[in-house]
Amino acid sequence: MSVYDDIRRLTAPDIKARKGGEPIVCLTSYHAHTARIVDAYCDIILVGDSLGQVMHGLETTVPVTLDMMILQGCAVMRGSRRALVVVDLPFGSYEVSKEHAFATASRVLKETGCGAVKMEGGRRMAETVAFLVERGVPVMSHVGLTPQSINTIGSFRAQGRDESDWAPIEADARAVADAGAFAVLIEAVAEPLARKITGEIAPPTIGIGASPACDGQVLVLEDMLGLSPRVPKFVKRFGDLGPSIERAVKSYAEEVRARSFPGPDNVYSMRKKK
Ligand code: KIV
Repeated sequence: MSVYDDIRRLTAPDIKARKGGEPIVCLTSYHAHTARIVDAYCDIILVGDSLGQVMHGLETTVPVTLDMMILQGCAVMRGSRRALVVVDLPFGSYEVSKEHAFATASRVLKETGCGAVKMEGGRRMAETVAFLVERGVPVMSHVGLTPQSINTIGSFRAQGRDESDWAPIEADARAVADAGAFAVLIEAVAEPLARKITGEIAPPTIGIGASPACDGQVLVLEDMLGLSPRVPKFVKRFGDLGPSIERAVKSYAEEVRARSFPGPDNVYSMRKKK
């Protein structure tokens, strides 16, 4: 029995059951305040390793550590109540063996309380996906463009734009689907290929730069809010927060310099003597 029985979070099986149904809405979040807002409208909150670039100004996700992911996973869990929270396993924390992947994933589930993990990789990770799922770890797989492999692939280019390149990407998606992934994220893949994979595999697909035919969509929150200075073609800016934050910071600086902030409403007066 949980003391939190008023909270009914979505689970990996709930998401899996949404195949072909109402589109699954997913956004990233790395901290409590944004998690609270995202939670009200999204089915899944992804604590993505893109936090390396977004929060820490890193060039790639490669340097992101497990401790960084766990810290932000805890923050997102505290800020949310309803959405399924999925935490990315960072580069180097799961690839070496399925046993190592289980140790990492169980640490993430225990320390954050999240409901699932995400791992990059198709056929090469299929055995690991099956090992984790059999042992109680729900896995979202990530195929197509896999940013953690940037040092071997060389650039963040879209995948499968020539039909001759489709077979390995389809095989990756099929392998992790057959291994028991509850959902498959498809990143930066030619639209017709993402559509085809969505029609072929049993778990729902979550697209990012993929296809409107995917069972769901995900974006990096700061990208869609207009806070990230450079974004890929597949990002639509649903907001333009950059200039409004800049305006607020500029006004604050001006008022501090003019001694007009803090004003009478922002300071404490003395208590009246009795
Ligand atoms: O780390 C991340 O934010 C991702 C994106 C594909 C959403 O994995």
